[in-house]
Amino acid sequence: MARLNLLEETRYEKLPVSVYSNQHEASVAVANRIAALIRAKQAKGEKAVLGLATGVTPIGVYAELVRQHKDAGLSFKNVITFNLDEYYPMKPTAQQSYVTFMYENLFSHIDIEKANVHIPDGTLDKDAVAGYCLAYEKQIEELGGLDLQILGIGRTGHIGFNEPGSAPNSGTRLVTLDDLTRSDASRDFGGKANVPTKAITMGIGTIFKAREIILMAWSKKKAPIIKKAVEGEISGDVPATYLQLSQHVEFVLDEAAASELTRFDTPWLVKDCVWDNILKKKAVIWLANEIGKPVLKLTEEDYNNHGMAQLAVEQGPVYNINIDIFNQIQHTITGWPGGKPDADDSQRPERALPAKKRSIIFSPHPDDDVISMGGTFIRLVDQGHDVHVAYQTSGNTAVWDDDVLRYMEFAIDFTNSIGEDTAHLKQSYEDMRAFFPNKQPNEIDTQEIRNVKGFIRKTEAISGARYAGLQDDHIHFMALPFYETGKIKKNSVGEEDVLLTIELLQKVKPQQIFAAGDFADPNGTHLVCFKIILAALDRLKGKEAWVEDCWLWMYRGAWHEFETHEIEMAVPLSPQEVIRKRNAIFKHQSQKDRPVFPGDDAREFWVRAEDRTRDTAQRYDRLGLAEYEAMEAFKRYMF
Ligand code: F6R
Repeated sequence: MARLNLLEETRYEKLPVSVYSNQHEASVAVANRIAALIRAKQAKGEKAVLGLATGVTPIGVYAELVRQHKDAGLSFKNVITFNLDEYYPMKPTAQQSYVTFMYENLFSHIDIEKANVHIPDGTLDKDAVAGYCLAYEKQIEELGGLDLQILGIGRTGHIGFNEPGSAPNSGTRLVTLDDLTRSDASRDFGGKANVPTKAITMGIGTIFKAREIILMAWSKKKAPIIKKAVEGEISGDVPATYLQLSQHVEFVLDEAAASELTRFDTPWLVKDCVWDNILKKKAVIWLANEIGKPVLKLTEEDYNNHGMAQLAVEQGPVYNINIDIFNQIQHTITGWPGGKPDADDSQRPERALPAKKRSIIFSPHPDDDVISMGGTFIRLVDQGHDVHVAYQTSGNTAVWDDDVLRYMEFAIDFTNSIGEDTAHLKQSYEDMRAFFPNKQPNEIDTQEIRNVKGFIRKTEAISGARYAGLQDDHIHFMALPFYETGKIKKNSVGEEDVLLTIELLQKVKPQQIFAAGDFADPNGTHLVCFKIILAALDRLKGKEAWVEDCWLWMYRGAWHEFETHEIEMAVPLSPQEVIRKRNAIFKHQSQKDRPVFPGDDAREFWVRAEDRTRDTAQRYDRLGLAEYEAMEAFKRYMF
């Protein structure tokens, strides 16, 4: 029976959505439903037929199922599985195959019969694919159809590998992958060029026939596509919107993935709100942007026409609200990121005292400092603060192989020039030359190569920090061990990572910390690095007096910026400072032109940095504040 949406709050949502505070809780909830289904079927002596997905999203669900198998005796003897998809062509033994993925994350750890596992075959001849796909469909049908299908969602809106353009009645077939999907997969394959262009996938029609469908999505990265899938019009441009037609679907989200749904993003449009300052600031800035007016020109009518009448009534007249918010934004702007000496600081983002602060900038990779806050970095130094920079990881996975040879050739020539023996160096060099041509995508480099790659980034970082004005003894390389796997997948954080951070903090005793507060990529290095700093501070808190006076400022990495209402300190840059920042970024030569890990943005890092800081300045300008060339944005983290 159709599930009716009875709530005003979810008025814009065209299918049922459950939101959990984090992906762990959500994954456990989904795993519990799967376990309940398996047990119910067991009790009836029936098979449970499951449709399974791969990707980062379901990993937590599989981990919980494995846990329940080990700790709670959940058996998979009566389970038959069909995976959604597989790259084509693809050997099952390849590291990137979905066969490898499924065995690593689930099948190898449970008691499922191997014969009950079905994953599309990426090894077939092209001619054999169509027949194989039909047989795949038939097998599912003969078993009575899928009891439950779990899904992730791609940023193109794909489910399975049904990319934009897929028809709602599509069946299992060979498809061409979208360019964005291939970019997203490029990390797993050691470069986009190695990502297959095709895949075999169950169709939307196949998925639809499942008796229950659960689509999961975590993290802010998925928020825009989730909004489209849940609130958008049904369209082949976003294949997941077809799920709106199903009577048996549910989206399970964490708060970050749900954050752009109307009820969370602009709740005043769908319900009465408790108007605290944060919401008020967000709403007024939203209103100004929505209708293209500066804050001080917003009228009562504007408020009323955009779901903000309640705010106007409770806290109006609206002009007073406008002035209040305008002043709050105005007070975030400061040319004194270390505090302005001898000034009243009651309305400034930073404290006036001590006039000269000890500041430490934590940079997850060796270039985030200058890319993300190079202007502020330079200003802090110019204004006489005792600035340190700490590069948390070596960044040694992100250097091209041919750069390694270039530096080795340099080392050999130099060693020769001072009359030293180069036999050893030459041997290493020859080993490297022999290694590279046979290197498989994503194969781990030898330790020597990893060292050279790390040294390359180290010299660049020193050069950048020195350009910003630092003395050598204020430049720290932490090479945190969690990162040193040589692979994209890193180790979990260990005691050593935290201890190294504590040691540095104890040495510097900072009044200010700047750190990359990036929460968009849940498994990303930036977030891990941030958590390590928090863990270190947590242990020092209450034990060392300086911690009480230490403020932690978050900046954002190369990928995205804070929303305007979130910004608590905006540091304007002059046109000249923009150029100085650019020069500092240029010191990172190995990341210039075409970095190894560009993400899905074709722009070079310095261009992204300039576009972003110009955009922040323009956002302030449009709200009616002063017009600057560029601005770097920060938000304080209370620990
Ligand atoms: C995987 C699949 C894809 C993924 C989607 C999201 O079997 O069919 O649709 O679910 O690409 O991938 P992640 O979870 O890695 O973000």
